[in-house]
Amino acid sequence: MVTSEGLRAAMVDGLVADHVAKGLTMRPEVEAALRAVPRELYTPGVALEEAYRGDNAVITKRRGAETVSSVSAPWLIAEMLGQAADAFDGGLLGRHVLEVGSGGYNASLLRELVGPSGSVTTVDIDPDVTERAVACLAAAGYGDVTVVCADAEQLIEPRRRFDLIIVTAGAWDVPESWIAQLAEDGVLVVPLRTFGMTRSWALRRVGDRLVSHSQRLCGFVAMQGAGAHEMRYVDIADGVHLRLDEGEQITAESVAGLLPQPREQVWAGVSLPPRTVLADLDLWLAVHLSAEVDQFVVLSAQQESVDAGVVAPAWRFGTPAALHEGTFSYRSALAWTDGRFDVGACAHGPDAAAAAERMVAHMRDWVDGGEPSPALQVLPAATPDGDLPAGTVLDKRHSRVVLTFNPA
Ligand SMILES: C[S@@+](CC[C@H](N)C(=O)[O-])C[C@H]1O[C@@H](n2cnc3c(N)ncnc32)[C@H](O)[C@@H]1O
Repeated sequence: MVTSEGLRAAMVDGLVADHVAKGLTMRPEVEAALRAVPRELYTPGVALEEAYRGDNAVITKRRGAETVSSVSAPWLIAEMLGQAADAFDGGLLGRHVLEVGSGGYNASLLRELVGPSGSVTTVDIDPDVTERAVACLAAAGYGDVTVVCADAEQLIEPRRRFDLIIVTAGAWDVPESWIAQLAEDGVLVVPLRTFGMTRSWALRRVGDRLVSHSQRLCGFVAMQGAGAHEMRYVDIADGVHLRLDEGEQITAESVAGLLPQPREQVWAGVSLPPRTVLADLDLWLAVHLSAEVDQFVVLSAQQESVDAGVVAPAWRFGTPAALHEGTFSYRSALAWTDGRFDVGACAHGPDAAAAAERMVAHMRDWVDGGEPSPALQVLPAATPDGDLPAGTVLDKRHSRVVLTFNPA
């Protein structure tokens, strides 16, 4: 018979194995919390098997075609909790935590992790979500989680400082209020978009700046309210889109007719093991290409368009791409041989071979450089250029974000 205990044990075993496959180690207290919290109590009306699928975010609210609220996928929650605990010496026991975005499930895992001497406050902008979270938390026995309905862009408890703020909606910027509410040495874990690509960053507060400790690939529903950010999609073929970040402009006409032109494929000629973190390569390409090409963009595509051979992206949910003098290039699907793979680029347009070669040259540099991983600092918007650390500067509304690469 299918039981919630049996499914939960299998889910956690799967999450531990997923960590190992990624070269990560799940902390024992995170594993214990995942084994303790009955996830099905946060997903009423959903089949038990669905509630306990490790890769499944359970959608709880849609607005039109857009998902605005969900109970996040267990694999992602597990990785973010691990990031948070790793960023503190001694883990999360006794810490005071603010969660932005309330489904109830993550708040109860946090409640397990901080123990009786810690506290968890969760805030959501949507009263339907907070009402639901209050009911689910009470039913699961976590009635001591404080649930607040507010836009998390503002101060939640003005006189309070939290050791950890963990954001569970996709952010484009870091508002001053998050830094102001963090204790000195506190940690912010936030899915932050740079160059159109979102990573969960664990950032430690050092004075008025935040310095990264770790980052992971992730995807989240978009931030709403005062911190909402525009992301637009321009179709370049049926089921193939370019994702444009705030402020980026492009017309459908300027990219029409690109893909029907012959495709050039160039390979880096490298042989990489399956664990290679290609999300790091993608940020490397973003930093280097954006300094060289007319426009760095992100390509996404429907599965049908990939199956039909219209495009062959590395990852159909978001692949680095470039537009330069009428030529379009992107990181292509991997070529596997004997359990290892090569990376490459496809290009279409008048200068296709050179454009694919330029992209691939950056891939070779990344591999030759020991596959460096990205590091991030977040500084106040008023920071003068001369006070910025070396790196690629992205100016946001409330902050200046500086991206660099750790030497291998
Ligand atoms: C993925 S869900 C949260 C999942 C949840 N942490 C869990 O335990 O599974 C994201 C939530 O962020 C909320 N949200 C979006 N923008 C917000 C904002 N500015 N302030 C507070 N909450 C926000 C949405 O209403 C949505 O419920």
